[in-house]
Amino acid sequence: MTLYKLTLLLHSGFRYIVMVLLLLAVLQSFAGWLSKKEYTEGNRKLNLFALISAHTQLLIGLALYFISPFVVFAKETMHEATARYWTVEHISMMIFAIVLITIGHSKSKKETLPENKHRTIAIFYTLAIIVVVVAIVQSKRAFFGMSN
Ligand code: HEM
Repeated sequence: MTLYKLTLLLHSGFRYIVMVLLLLAVLQSFAGWLSKKEYTEGNRKLNLFALISAHTQLLIGLALYFISPFVVFAKETMHEATARYWTVEHISMMIFAIVLITIGHSKSKKETLPENKHRTIAIFYTLAIIVVVVAIVQSKRAFFGMSN
């Protein structure tokens, strides 16, 4: 197996960890926000792990970006849908999603009321999930499944 295939497999598989952690964080934050619950140590950890997983995925993605044959820097890139997607669109949308997660996490930390902490995570992480889902759908690859 080549380094490229290995990195692709890692990045592809890691999406599930990121998505599951984000989904769990969103569910708990909506529950906490709407039912005005305490902001527990468990809440804090899950929100942090979701952030860390997104940053890890960013690093794997960056490594992949420089070895993937789908990333092409050429005159034709912008006219060719697949090359444009992997060279420009995927990286832009995913970094945007990760920025939303990072801002949401840091804003939530600065809030003092539990309700506001939950609300900030709920809003920013939900927006991030939407961006990630749209990006994966636009890739035209299977939403659940890995390339080989
Ligand atoms: C939350 C963040 C991200 C998620 C959920 C995600 C998800 C994915 C998925 C599902 C694939 C397709 C894998 C397959 O076909 O098996 C993929 C491929 C790829 N991603 Fe990401 N990605 C993320 C962030 C990034 C970032 C930030 C970069 C670049 C810096 C990046 C670069 C790539 C590249 C280059 C490919 C490979 C195309 C190929 O060679 O087949 N990704 N990503």
